[in-house]
Amino acid sequence: MPVITCIEDLKRLHARRVPRMFYDYAESGSYTEQTFRENVSDFSQIRLRQRVAVDMSDRNLSASMLGEAVSMPVALAPVGFTGMQSADGEIKAARAAEAFGVPFTLSTMSICSIEDVAAHTTKPFWFQLYVMRDEEFVDNIIDRAKRAGCSALVLTLDLQILGQRHKDLKNGLSAPPRLTLPNILNMATKPRWCLGMLGTKRHTFGNIVGHAKGVGDLASLSSWTNEQFDPKLDWTKIARIRDRWGGKLVLKGVLDAEDARRAADFGADAIVVSNHGGRQLDGALSSIRILPSIVRAVKGQTGIWIDSGIRTGQDVLKALALGADAAMIGRSYIYGLGAMGEAGVTRALDIIRKELDVTLALCGERDVKNLGAHNLLVPRGFE
Ligand code: FNR
Repeated sequence: MPVITCIEDLKRLHARRVPRMFYDYAESGSYTEQTFRENVSDFSQIRLRQRVAVDMSDRNLSASMLGEAVSMPVALAPVGFTGMQSADGEIKAARAAEAFGVPFTLSTMSICSIEDVAAHTTKPFWFQLYVMRDEEFVDNIIDRAKRAGCSALVLTLDLQILGQRHKDLKNGLSAPPRLTLPNILNMATKPRWCLGMLGTKRHTFGNIVGHAKGVGDLASLSSWTNEQFDPKLDWTKIARIRDRWGGKLVLKGVLDAEDARRAADFGADAIVVSNHGGRQLDGALSSIRILPSIVRAVKGQTGIWIDSGIRTGQDVLKALALGADAAMIGRSYIYGLGAMGEAGVTRALDIIRKELDVTLALCGERDVKNLGAHNLLVPRGFE
């Protein structure tokens, strides 16, 4: 076992342990991958102000998200196919998050169903909704999330139409995997992964198989996705979903100050400033570059969370100092899951928490709530 000190180490291990097509599914952006790359590289353009000779003892990272106490202002973002990276991956990630005291968000496109995850956890988790054309399916899945005790609905707005990811097409990504020679050879070199998958009883798209029309043959899932997702999703439809759900609502995929104002006026409990990890609109600005304009537009009117590109505790600190109330991580925990299962998700969270804690101290702060522009040196283009 190599020594793991950072998220990059987990990523390397993930690449070694999981079949290439599934690793590539996680580690890709749409089209030229410009936005995917800049999500990460833009964080490194923001610099931190080191402060000395201040009392750095008794630091506090705890916060609240949607009124829920969290051990740090970081939640696990919804990630489709999580259970493909590690058998029962959604359950493993949810349990790791629960033990760590941070929220877990279950994707509509998960392998384990809402009910499976509820049966293996003790605290409420959040459910992410993709809006399908079939309103009966949407109503039904909202009701299932309510029955399972989910405490928030995270409604994703930036995937009405799928951004193409070249690697997935080249790999013939499908579920179960298409048995091309490269895929067979690659899987044959990953005995740990194959054994894990053989051992699972929940290797199915539990939220949609048996609930949505036209799903039975999983191999047709990607074309099914394009046929089923509702390209007409608009504010009227969002209002219908809000009314059916009736609980805490988070709007995810907001990347424009005007949309953020609309979401705040609409009454969203929080928005997620996100470009879907660079998987949708290639050429969009990184989330961190857009964040200040959204903070100016809606700070205090709705919760402002950010995701896309967060790989370190330093990144979390920069986002908080720029005005975000919290951050979500996607790939950072998926690398951990693919590398080491549940323990890997815990390791990813622990790495980020420790980095955040030390960085907070070296910036001369004792509480994440006190972070602000005074902690940063921000170049032009982030204002
Ligand atoms: C995602 N994301 C995502 N979002 C969502 O609302 N529903 C989903 O099912 C998925 N699926 C998904 C799969 C994979 C493999 C990735 C990497 C991402 C987007 C996710 O919630 C989040 O916005 C990004 O992952 C954030 O970017 P980073 O942290 O991965 O850079």
